[in-house]
Amino acid sequence: MGGGVYEWRMDKTLREFMKRLDSQKIGQIVCFSTTGYKNSAIEQMKHIAKEKGIAVNKNELLIKMLLKGHSWLGLEGGNLSDKQIKTIINFTDKIKEELQ
Ligand SMILES: Cc1cc2nc3c(=O)[nH]c(=O)nc-3n(C[C@H](O)[C@H](O)[C@H](O)COP(=O)(O)O)c2cc1C
Repeated sequence: MGGGVYEWRMDKTLREFMKRLDSQKIGQIVCFSTTGYKNSAIEQMKHIAKEKGIAVNKNELLIKMLLKGHSWLGLEGGNLSDKQIKTIINFTDKIKEELQ
């Protein structure tokens, strides 16, 4: 479960999606977020999951984009670096191993 941070908060559509989830149908979630810097989306996801009684995997992934993706600053879109892609692959491999 994941998304970006916008004006210090998680994406509104992600929040609404999580609020509508049927907890009974979910074993657990793994939280990730791309962000300028803040990890507030992950914290908010964990908060909503707790409220709904959804288990949260202990692993979480925060990918800092800094100012990438802020098109209004004239910067190129938020493409991931090779290092970030490797981090994501390692993260998902670790989760898959742990869940086996
Ligand atoms: C309008 C806007 C507001 C943002 N606000 C924040 C913020 O408050 N804190 C932060 O750390 N990152 C902020 N960011 C950075 C985004 O979280 C980051 O670029 C993220 O990777 C965007 O994901 P997306 O490309 O899937 O939309 C903002 C980006 C945009 C475009």
